[in-house]
Amino acid sequence: MIEKLPKARFWEAEDIFHWEGFWFWPDVLKMVMTFRDNFIARNDDVLLASPMKTGTTWLKSLALSCRNDNDDNDVLAVENPHFLVPTVEVVHLIKKPCKTDVYDASAPRLLHTHIPYSLLPDSIKSSSSSTKIVYIARNPKDTFISMWHFYNSTFCPIPLEKAFDCFCSGVYNSGPLFDHVAEYWIESWKRPEKILFLKYEELKSNPKVQISKMAEFLGKPLGSEDEMEKILWRCSLERLRNLEVNKNGKSFLVASNSSFFRKGEVGDWRNYLTPEMAEKIDQMSRHKLEATGLFL
Ligand code: A3P
Repeated sequence: MIEKLPKARFWEAEDIFHWEGFWFWPDVLKMVMTFRDNFIARNDDVLLASPMKTGTTWLKSLALSCRNDNDDNDVLAVENPHFLVPTVEVVHLIKKPCKTDVYDASAPRLLHTHIPYSLLPDSIKSSSSSTKIVYIARNPKDTFISMWHFYNSTFCPIPLEKAFDCFCSGVYNSGPLFDHVAEYWIESWKRPEKILFLKYEELKSNPKVQISKMAEFLGKPLGSEDEMEKILWRCSLERLRNLEVNKNGKSFLVASNSSFFRKGEVGDWRNYLTPEMAEKIDQMSRHKLEATGLFL
């Protein structure tokens, strides 16, 4: 069935398929369909969600730390966040079995996905489900630059101009970005008790406010300023990047752990994009999001 879907070439390297308004690699698409059709959510499950390259690694680390009841157990020191909080549609690409089995509902799960809201299982979306979702979005120009570096490190490198065309056409896994963001954003307005919508830039500029918002949302309010400081330090880019597991480890078959940690700056796009490129992305962003009241 997948082979019959409209397809395009991604990063001059792989075929990617269009299904229900979004693009997916074929093996990922199979997992998306499996998840949608088979996952039964618990009310105390937490699903993290994001487009590619918007701060997923950070969000996984923070949510894991907020939910951790044993402060002495610093799991991030020895394992990569992507191994600790599996992304449901790419578990087949993780090199060793994860501790969290996506389909084992015997205990509350902390999971992540790049799947758009409209394609999530009904057991998560239904009005009777209390499963919480924490979403993270990021400025699209920084997202694009982050994507360019990431895919150039995992596939054959392509010039910025070609990657730009790919980004603008929305032909990348779980793209187009703006539709992905709009779906979660609109839903977070309708059901604020269910979906918490975070922005990477706000986490950077005001981490304490954002992390306490998330901890409260997850029903795990942070006890003290010290606790907050500790979590922020444990999850900081500087610390995670320099851990042995993230410097030299490999959780995925296709990407090294180090490829998830780069600069982590707001506005890095200024070092790469021409004014015309920046304006084109801004235009697309305005066109898709302005009417929803979201500015990224
Ligand atoms: P840059 O490429 O702009 O540096 P994702 O985790 O969704 O793949 O996103 C990757 C981006 O998040 C990269 O951005 C990466 O450097 C940044 N990042 C990773 N870990 C981070 C952390 N702990 N704190 C802040 N940013 C982080």
